[in-house]
Amino acid sequence: MARIIAGVASSHVPAIGAAIDNKQTGEPYWQRVFSGFEKSKQWMAETKPDVAIVVYNDHASAFSVEFVPTFALGCAAEFPPADEGWGPRPVPVVKGHPELAAHIAQSVILDEFDLTIVNKMEVDHGLTVPMNLLFGSPKEWPCPVIPLAVNVVLYPPPTGHRCYMLGRAIRKAVESYPEDLKVVIFGTGGMSHQISGPRAGLINSKFDKAYLDNLTKDPKKLARMEHLEYMREAGAEGIEMVMWLVMRGALDDKVDEVYRFYTVPASNTAVGHIILENRKGAARGKAKKAKTAPKTAPKIKRAAARVTHRDVLKGK
Ligand SMILES: [Fe+2]
Repeated sequence: MARIIAGVASSHVPAIGAAIDNKQTGEPYWQRVFSGFEKSKQWMAETKPDVAIVVYNDHASAFSVEFVPTFALGCAAEFPPADEGWGPRPVPVVKGHPELAAHIAQSVILDEFDLTIVNKMEVDHGLTVPMNLLFGSPKEWPCPVIPLAVNVVLYPPPTGHRCYMLGRAIRKAVESYPEDLKVVIFGTGGMSHQISGPRAGLINSKFDKAYLDNLTKDPKKLARMEHLEYMREAGAEGIEMVMWLVMRGALDDKVDEVYRFYTVPASNTAVGHIILENRKGAARGKAKKAKTAPKTAPKIKRAAARVTHRDVLKGK
């Protein structure tokens, strides 16, 4: 049977993609960001998932305001990189897994989550930047990917609870797929950031770090958080973090946090990243022994770097 062995959450800041594409990763500003993902790439190379489910949001690339599905599952055989205004990113075409995607669609829809099925779709930085951060820049992506696009750009986005429960349904779907597959699920977006308006540039590190803590230890508390709290504490675009709860819902209640990284700023955004492994499951393979994947919580490796910290809510 297929099983979800781990979850990864990562920001998907578009400027990170531009830094990769323009070969600026070695510059001091960007080195601070990319260095935080070196252990993650090692973990991913050792984990070797057979399939990745990437929960992300489209930024008016595949969808426009004329058509905004709340949850859209990519069931196609491939997903080309989208032209986001500067031509498509020079990254490989994302190969899908139509069989598993169709199985997930059937299971989840019959579980009363009304997904939109997408049989043709281009994918933007929301999906490709986390892929680069975890897989590097290979000629071909090392595993098939099932994209799950979530609307977090046009009000109303789904609630955190809905996202969390969708993760539960996805897990059930994966575990009823007969082929023996190791699946890693990504939640992308966030962390605190606001692009426009009087609070543009908002970063709230205190909120972000508490969010990371609760993602590991108390995700149900996060699932109860209302949209207004995301907006107030993490900025208008901080609502992207509800997508992390799809990932978390697909994991065990108790997980091992094997890696965390947080840095500010990258562009005008806080960058957060975490890797969580299910405790049970023999399918972890070499990752179980990996230096970057210790089994117990006290051995958690954390990396943190900071240049500036603008917590605009401080004192409010
Ligand atoms: Fe985004």
